[in-house]
Amino acid sequence: MKNFINDIPKAELHLHIEGTLEPELMFKLATKNNIKLNYKTIEDIKKAYNFTNLQSFLDIYYSGAKVLINEEDFYDLTFDYLKKCKQNNIIHTEIFFDPQTHTARGIKFETVINGISKALEDAKNEFSISSKLIMCFLRHLSEEEAFDTLKEAIKFKDKIIGIGLDSSEIGNPPSKFKNVFSKAKNLGFKLVAHAGEEAGFEYINDALDLLNVDRIDHGVQAINNNKLMQRLKDNQIALTVCPLSNTKLKVFEDMKEHNIKQMLEYGLNVTVNSDDPSYFGGYLNDNFHAISNNLNLSKENIIKLVKNSFNSSFISNEQKAKFINIVDEFIKNN
Ligand code: ADE
Ligand code: ZN
Repeated sequence: MKNFINDIPKAELHLHIEGTLEPELMFKLATKNNIKLNYKTIEDIKKAYNFTNLQSFLDIYYSGAKVLINEEDFYDLTFDYLKKCKQNNIIHTEIFFDPQTHTARGIKFETVINGISKALEDAKNEFSISSKLIMCFLRHLSEEEAFDTLKEAIKFKDKIIGIGLDSSEIGNPPSKFKNVFSKAKNLGFKLVAHAGEEAGFEYINDALDLLNVDRIDHGVQAINNNKLMQRLKDNQIALTVCPLSNTKLKVFEDMKEHNIKQMLEYGLNVTVNSDDPSYFGGYLNDNFHAISNNLNLSKENIIKLVKNSFNSSFISNEQKAKFINIVDEFIKNN
């Protein structure tokens, strides 16, 4: 099973590029850009990654992102993740970026998107990795600030497939971003939102009803409402679940308590993703191993999860069929 998980071609749909910043690159960029870190050694950094909830992680995550200054820093960050994709046999990835984390520090929107985009282009040529970019609004900021960010994004519309919503969930409900999501939909963007990560299942209903999202990021709190479970099943709405993130942020105390298998067996369209792998202790294959070992997943479970990701991605139907064919060929031989 271990080799099967490692080798099967996969897609990833929930990955924050700022969450792939490894301590080594953080130190290197801090020195290059003359940024003072709160840590003296890589061990100090790793010790700080001891989270009690989402906010305790976000504070450290935003602070780490301060080392990213120039276009080449965003390039290096992204290219390092794409090398991990190659190692994890990820052949398609849909990457989140948080421009407001950077523009608030005086970094230009184009510095961020050009650095990321160049790395995506190079990885396509060097590793044949297919990718899409999703721009997230920070939900702890105002809707007005989200509108300003959307305006910037329009200039780079050819590089951005969708709009998402992340950061501090509790107290920042989907309703706060109703108007800006409506505008984004009219502009032709795909829509996603983090919902039901640590706030209640009501946020999932609201993301569907008020924001019109195409996918739900996380969504694990859906289990607490039968009517919503039925709705997600009937409409096969994709949930981008992130197992290691959920245990690191204490959404579940132990991987053995994670509900991904239960949701899969109920018939929900669940997928496996790494969220912020540098902070949560593992990339995509590690997430698959963690659930496979702790929840006793079958080979069929793994295949279903992998196919769900390709089928729920924002690529053309033709491209989806090509990728599913690659997966089927792998299964035939393994
Ligand atoms: N930003 C980065 N990771 C996040 C997560 N898991 N939830 C909300 N916002 C995030
Ligand atoms: Zn996330």
